Amino acid sequence: MNWKNWIRQAHRWLSIVFTFIVLAIFAAQGLGKELAEWVFFLPLFPLLFMLLTGLYLFALPYIQRPHGKPTR
Ligand code: HEM
Repeated sequence: MNWKNWIRQAHRWLSIVFTFIVLAIFAAQGLGKELAEWVFFLPLFPLLFMLLTGLYLFALPYIQRPHGKPTR
């Protein structure tokens, strides 16, 4: 697997991690649990990496060589 695919896969799996952290926080609050303040910052870690990998994925079509053009 090349590194472009690797970054796409990282973005893909981080989206699952991010979603489950947010869902867990909503569920815990719905159940009336008292959560420590740092718990609310947990989703920001995957989100930061998602922003970086996501911006890369956005730029990818513009920085890739045009279709049909030789590599050199
Ligand atoms: C934080 C800022 C984010 C940016 C800038 C961003 C940007 C992008 C871009 C440009 C793509 C590629 C689209 C394409 O050309 O195919 C993408 C794919 C994707 N994004 Fe994000 N994204 C962000 C956050 C998120 C979040 C929060 C989620 C979900 C919780 C998410 C889930 C996904 C998924 C599942 C894909 C498809 C991955 C694949 O190709 O398998 N992204 N994102």
